[in-house]
Amino acid sequence: MLPTRSRSLWRGQNAVTVHEAQPHAQGRFHIRTYGCQMNVHDSQKLAGLLGGAGYEVAPSEEAADLLVINTCSIRDKAENHLYSDLGRLRDWKAEVPGRVIGVGGCVAQQVGDSLLKRFSHVDFVFGTHNLRLVPSMLDAARGGERRSETAESRSLERFELPSARAGTAGRAFLTVMEGCDMFCSFCIVPTTRGREISRPAAQILAEARDLAERGVRELTLLGQTVNAYGRHAIRRGSSAEVGTMAFADLLAELDRVPGVERIRYTSPHPLFFDPALIEAHARLEHLCPHVHLPLQSGSDAVLARMRRRYSRDDYRRIVDALRQAVPHVAITTDVIVGFPGETGADFEDTLDLVREVGFVDSYSFKYSSRPGTAAESYPDAVDSEEAQRRLQALQDLQRELTLAHHRSRLGKRVEVLIHGESRHGGGQLCGRDAHHRLVNLAPGPSGRQPEAGQGEIKQVEIVEATPHSLIGVIASEARATGRPAPLTVQGR
Ligand code: 5AD
Ligand code: SF4
Repeated sequence: MLPTRSRSLWRGQNAVTVHEAQPHAQGRFHIRTYGCQMNVHDSQKLAGLLGGAGYEVAPSEEAADLLVINTCSIRDKAENHLYSDLGRLRDWKAEVPGRVIGVGGCVAQQVGDSLLKRFSHVDFVFGTHNLRLVPSMLDAARGGERRSETAESRSLERFELPSARAGTAGRAFLTVMEGCDMFCSFCIVPTTRGREISRPAAQILAEARDLAERGVRELTLLGQTVNAYGRHAIRRGSSAEVGTMAFADLLAELDRVPGVERIRYTSPHPLFFDPALIEAHARLEHLCPHVHLPLQSGSDAVLARMRRRYSRDDYRRIVDALRQAVPHVAITTDVIVGFPGETGADFEDTLDLVREVGFVDSYSFKYSSRPGTAAESYPDAVDSEEAQRRLQALQDLQRELTLAHHRSRLGKRVEVLIHGESRHGGGQLCGRDAHHRLVNLAPGPSGRQPEAGQGEIKQVEIVEATPHSLIGVIASEARATGRPAPLTVQGR
C-alpha cells in the first residue's frame, strides 16, 4: 500500500484535510474558494477528484502549478473579486512555465467561455454541474487546449463525487438537494445553480453512515432551499420512484445514524417550513436547536416584490411555532436592505420585526442588482448612501440583540464541538455550541490551556460574553475549584 499523508488544503476556516497517495503526483494544486457553503463543499469534492487523479495539494499558492478559483456571483462585489484576482494572476502564471489556471463556480456558470476570451491566461472554465470534467480539462490544458464546459445536467451523478472531507474537525457537509426553482426577484442562484434536484434518501443515508464511521459527529445538510427536499417528486406522487421522502422524515432517519450527535441544515425557505419540520425539532434528539431562516425583509410590500411568497405574519407564525416546540431555539437570518422601492417605512418594518423576533445573529446585505434577475429592471433604486445608512442601523440593532443573547448564556453549561485553534492563536481552542455560537476556551482556574481534541464534544461553562463570541471553560476545570474565572461582560 502506498504511504499516505495529510495536508491542509486551505488556510483559515475552510481548511480541510485530504489524504493523498504518494509518490504519483502529477502536479500540485491550490483552490481559492469564494461564497457559500455549497461552494466550500464543491471545492472539497474537487480536491477529492484531483487527489484521485494523482494531483497533490500544494503547501501554498506559490508552490502550486494548478490554481483553481471557485467563484461566487451572489452580489456584484463577489463577482468583481474574480476579475481583480485574475488581473493579478497574469504575473503568477508567467513566473513559472506550465502553470495552469481554472475558473469554476457561479460566475463561470453565468459567463462561460467569455472568460477565456477576456483573460488569455485562463486555461479552462467549468460550470457548477461540471466538476467531474476538471481532470480531463486539466489534461487538455496541459496539451495547449483551452476548454469551457458549462452545460446544465439533471444527472444525479454529481452527488456521487468523492470528497476531501473535513473529517478531522468532527463535522462535514452533506448535500441533500441542489438548485432552486423559487426565482426570488433579486437572486441569481436559479441561473447559476440550475433547477431543483433532490438526491435519493438511500444515498444520503449511506454517506451519513460512512461519515459517522470516519469520526464525523456533526452533519450540516446542504441545499439552496434545503427543506424543499424531495418536493417535486412527492408532488408528482412518485417519491418512491426516485427515492426521496419528506424533509422531516429524512431528518428522522439521519437522527438514528449511530455516531451522529448533531444535525444542522442550511438554508430552509419559510414557504416549506411545515408543521412536520417543526415537530421534528421538538422530537429529534440530535437536531440542533438552531434555525437559520432567511427573512430578507420585514415589509409585506417589499416581500411581495421580492417574490418571497410569504408575509411578515407567516414568518412570525413559524417563529412562534418553533419556539413552542423548542423554547430555547436560536434563530438567525439573512436580510437585504435597499431593495428597489424600499421606503423608510418599509425599512422600519424590517427593524421592528428583527427586534420582535430577537434574532441571535443575522447576515445583512445591501441590495446588489444581478444580471438576468427580475429585479434588475425594477424602478426606484434606493440611493447607495441611504442603503448604507440602513445597513448600519440594522447591524447596530443586531449587535445589541447578539450581545443580549450571549449575556443570557453566562453561567450556563453548554456542549461545544471543538473545531481547533481560535483566530487568536496561542493555543487557544474554539468550537461551536448547539446554537452555532462561537465559543473560545479560556484557561481554567489552574491557568492551564484546556486539553481537548478537534472533533470532541466538551461540556463548557460560559464565563464571558462579547458581541462576537462566548468565552468558556471546560466544565471539569470549572467544577474542580467550585467557581471558575470571574464573570465579566465586555461592553459594545
Ligand atoms: N443582493 C444582495 N443580497 C443578496 N442575497 C441574494 N441575492 C442578493 C442580491 N442580489 C442575499 C440573500 C440571501 C443571501 C445568501 O444573500 O439575503 O439569503
Ligand atoms: Fe435565491 Fe430565493 Fe432560491 Fe434562495 S430561494 S436561492 S434567495 S431564488
